[in-house]
Amino acid sequence: MSGETVAVAIKRLSDAFARVGIDNARLDARILVGRALGVSAGETALHADRVLDDGSAQRLTSWADRRLAREPIGRILGEREFWGLTFELLPDTLEPRPDSEALVAAVLEANKNRAPRILDLGTGTGCLLIALLKEIPEARGLGIDQAPGAVACAARNAARAGVEARAEFIRSDWFEHVARTFDVVVSNPPYLSTADMATLAPEVSFDPAAALIAGEDGCDAYRAILSRLRPFVRGGTVIALEIGANQCEAVSSIASSHRFKIAAIKRDLAGHSRCLLLMP
Ligand SMILES: C[S@@+](CC[C@H](N)C(=O)[O-])C[C@H]1O[C@@H](n2cnc3c(N)ncnc32)[C@H](O)[C@@H]1O
Repeated sequence: MSGETVAVAIKRLSDAFARVGIDNARLDARILVGRALGVSAGETALHADRVLDDGSAQRLTSWADRRLAREPIGRILGEREFWGLTFELLPDTLEPRPDSEALVAAVLEANKNRAPRILDLGTGTGCLLIALLKEIPEARGLGIDQAPGAVACAARNAARAGVEARAEFIRSDWFEHVARTFDVVVSNPPYLSTADMATLAPEVSFDPAAALIAGEDGCDAYRAILSRLRPFVRGGTVIALEIGANQCEAVSSIASSHRFKIAAIKRDLAGHSRCLLLMP
């Protein structure tokens, strides 16, 4: 509201967010108030007594209404942090999740190639490929996705991260337009079952369904990828797949049926098995 101080606005919004069951209500309030003023959430404390002008108050009201309708902060602001980088989001790209950073860490540990060619299947915002290109200065990579907006969005994100000269993004139904072998293959494919969808937080409904759902058992995308992957790998290729809760056994079994060996299972920071590392 116009005329409110920063401290009062943060208190009012965090109470309102908490009432509708939003986790981290105070942090979300600080992020939105900070953004309305053009400062970070952490810096709002330095502006506690500052009075919100009309423009900031209007922006804040509109964002707060969207958050109360359970739209995630990243969607409201149109961007999300991943691996210390900022990624633009579009309606047809998944909002990157911190859990997926386990894949980046696993690849960095397993890859011994100084200048690997990396393939990212289902690239979305390009977050996995771009984080890897940022960390491995001589790597080059291809990100593919079938979502219409993803390719342009990922290309803009690569430019923002300064890796655009080493990244290519194309629209492709998995391997449809892929034509060479790679040293590293990463994928965070859709892996929720239709039944899972009913149990998710309301925020997840703002992600595109095509980025989330993979058939009745959530494994359709793993089957599609692993059954067609062989021609695109060579002897030492590092293959890293993100997996959902309780999917380790099912995905390992699909991988084994296509003669891929399980090299390691890596956990995310919450301790869940999150990344399956495979060898050809
Ligand atoms: C779970 S999201 C992952 C996005 C991004 N890699 C990340 O980690 O945030 C899965 C992605 O796979 C893409 N996808 C789904 N089916 C596909 C297909 N048949 N071919 C290519 N991409 C596909 C979706 O559009 C979506 O961007």
